[in-house]
This record gives sequence, structure tokens and C-alpha cells, in this order.
Amino acid sequence: MEKEVNHSNYSVSFRELIKNDEHIQKIIEQNGVLGHGFSGWTNVRKFITPLIDKDGSFLDIGCGNGFLIRCLEEWSGHCLIPYGIDVNRACIEACKQMFPTYAANFRVMKMKGFKKFPSGLTKDFTYVYWAVWDNADLSDRSFASKIELLLARVKPDGKLLLAFYDLNMLGKIESKLSSWPFMIHQRVRGPTHDTVFCIEKN
Ligand SMILES: C[S@@+](CC[C@H](N)C(=O)[O-])C[C@H]1O[C@@H](n2cnc3c(N)ncnc32)[C@H](O)[C@@H]1O
Repeated sequence: MEKEVNHSNYSVSFRELIKNDEHIQKIIEQNGVLGHGFSGWTNVRKFITPLIDKDGSFLDIGCGNGFLIRCLEEWSGHCLIPYGIDVNRACIEACKQMFPTYAANFRVMKMKGFKKFPSGLTKDFTYVYWAVWDNADLSDRSFASKIELLLARVKPDGKLLLAFYDLNMLGKIESKLSSWPFMIHQRVRGPTHDTVFCIEKN
């Protein structure tokens, strides 16, 4: 049973963004979540919020239209400087509209094999977030090298957040955790078992 969402703590601009159900449904569906409107989206994403415990820069690998970052900012009450890459041009255009001040922080880019990290995004980030693609290869060496590449771009006091929205993928990663070279510092679970692992840099 989904809970009703209380809008009273949201900023004026966010309330404006979510006030039209049809508009917000399109935004949510562009991020691959079907049906159930903003309350449904809140149900499947808000559980991530406890991992956002300070202000900072936030790079979303496969950022969709940026709505996740916008929501995490509202839900956590922390100020996030948004960055994102996505293979989908329409999504990146939508990010630029979502964050006009930070339009230059969004790139159309495919992370193929993770050999090339976002060119021009030279900063290290407080948060690097990757909703691991459902078809990602989790074989030990290949996956570990991706994690290492992402961790290298996390600030010393920052966090790498790995999201598994797909139960099949979650099962695969859980079966590997005992032999993993990375320490999972925190893990949060959503109501439908979606899970985010947090690896701290230090
Ligand atoms: C489910 S959406 C995630 C949106 C948001 N990050 C979230 O967690 O709610 C996944 C996004 O990853 C993008 N994507 C998939 N494969 C990619 C790749 N190899 N390189 C870059 N983006 C990719 C898709 O275009 C899509 O917008």
C-alpha cells in the first residue's frame, strides 16, 4: 500500500514541478518507472535518502532526466551540485531544463566498458551514483575494475552508491559479496527489495 505523499515540506519550485500529475508522470516514465505517479516514484526511490548525509557534488551515471537528483535534494534537505551522463540525448536535454544553472554538468555519453570516464568532468565528486544496468557484466574482474574506476572519482570523504533495482541482478551481486574486495559500509533497501550499496572512499 503506497503512502500519500506530504508536499508541505517541499520547496516552492519543487511543488511547482510536481503539481501537474500528467507532466510528472512523463518525467517519471522517462526514468523507466511506470505507473503510480509521484507517490509511486517516492515509494521506489525515497529509501535512498539516508545515504545523502551532507551537501556536495553528485554524479549520476545513467542520470535519466535528472529527477532522481532533484528529488534526493528535496528529500535529504542537502544541497547537491548535479552532474550526469546518459546515453540518451533526450534525457540529457531534460536534465539541462531541470537544472539550467548546471546545464554544462550534463553530457550525452555511453559508458561502454567504463574505459573512458566522462571527458571534461574532471572533478572528483562527493557522491557517485550508478544504478547498475540490468545487462551489466558482474563477472568478478570486469565488475571490480568498474568499481575501482568509479571509486577513483570519489572525494576522500565521499561515497560510491551502487543501486540494484533489478532482483535478478541483486541476487547475482549478493552471491559475490563474500569474495568482494570492497567493503560495503551501508546498504538501504526499498519496499520492493531495490537495494543501494554504499562504499565509502576511506
Ligand atoms: C533506470 S534509468 C536511471 C535514472 C536514475 N539514475 C535513477 O536511478 O532513477 C537508467 C538510465 O541509464 C541510461 N543508460 C543505460 N545504459 C547506459 C550506458 N551504457 N551509458 C550511459 N547511460 C546508460 C539509460 O539511458 C537510462 O536513462
